[in-house]
Amino acid sequence: MAAKQQRIGSGFGAQSTAEEVLTGVDLWGRTALVTGGYSGLGLETTRALTRAGAHVIVPARRRATAEETLRDVPGTEVHELDLADLESVRVFSGRILETGRTLDIVIAGAGIMACPETRVGPAWEAHFATNHLGHFALVNRLRPALAPGRARVVSVSSAGHFLSPIRWDDLHFRTGYDGWLAYAQSKTANALFAVHLDTLGAADGLRSFAVHPGSILTPLQRHVPRAEQIAQGWIDAEGRPAAGFKTPAQGAATAIWAATSPLLDAHGGAYCQDCDIAEPATTDDMLIGGVKPWAVDADEAARLWELSAELTGVDAYS
Ligand SMILES: NC(=O)c1ccc[n+]([C@@H]2O[C@H](COP(=O)([O-])OP(=O)(O)OC[C@H]3O[C@@H](n4cnc5c(N)ncnc54)[C@H](OP(=O)(O)O)[C@@H]3O)[C@@H](O)[C@H]2O)c1
Repeated sequence: MAAKQQRIGSGFGAQSTAEEVLTGVDLWGRTALVTGGYSGLGLETTRALTRAGAHVIVPARRRATAEETLRDVPGTEVHELDLADLESVRVFSGRILETGRTLDIVIAGAGIMACPETRVGPAWEAHFATNHLGHFALVNRLRPALAPGRARVVSVSSAGHFLSPIRWDDLHFRTGYDGWLAYAQSKTANALFAVHLDTLGAADGLRSFAVHPGSILTPLQRHVPRAEQIAQGWIDAEGRPAAGFKTPAQGAATAIWAATSPLLDAHGGAYCQDCDIAEPATTDDMLIGGVKPWAVDADEAARLWELSAELTGVDAYS
């Protein structure tokens, strides 16, 4: 059964930063893996987790850039990983498993948004393949390393999920490609992944959550022309973010809270925003947020899991 989408009063909110939600949290001796942990929200996440004492593994499709970016962040290590390439996922996961280490936290944050139509692997649509299938294969392959009884997996979704449920009849946009709808579907998939992983992972004591980080200017918007960003009201003519946008440190807070807060122990599978469990969406306004029913539906989640296992050939829970 899907988690109840009801606020629990965490004491944090939209303005809380990664640093604030980690106040008094000791992650010494803990290991985290943060995909995309060298850019935007992921970089803030990596910095905050290491400051709290965690060792952070950062898989990167641009290894040299990641190494350069993280040079002054102690307690990090970079490995090569392209989530759009399942062979790369297999090789990376094998390397981590070989070391015999356990992972306490996985933050599946890497992603692409509103890209021109791109095909990867067997002509899969790139948002679905990268944002969802790559992370699906990664977490399943890493199951033996997930710390029994305490591991948390946080899937970074988005209010972008408002625009599309899973398109069961045309997952890969064989017709009518639209970059925003492709992103939306992949973000619904991220949320559903957390729902079913939490169900299956219960036997290992694993908890999984999905989060909407808020709206934050990062390199994610690289495919959105400046004029469109102004027209959408995201930035003004000088490039300053609109009211309601978060800083990267605020944007990283919800995923870190979901990865560490004991308040969530009994709420696995929940979709969170602003450092709390999100309520069901009552409007289509993504800045207000909340969660649409198709992103937390247990039957949809189970169906997506089965299909993803079939497509990737990986299912650690079968
Ligand atoms: N920013 C927002 O307003 C916002 C709102 C809602 C949700 N989100 C979600 O938050 C997450 C982080 O976004 P962000 O804003 O921090 O964007 P970002 O700065 O562009 O970071 C995305 C990261 O994903 C990595 N990545 C992309 N494709 C990959 C692949 N095939 N294999 C491995 N890594 C790959 C990127 O690597 P490269 O740097 O090498 O390209 C980058 O490190 C995303 O999942 C996004 O959907 C963001």
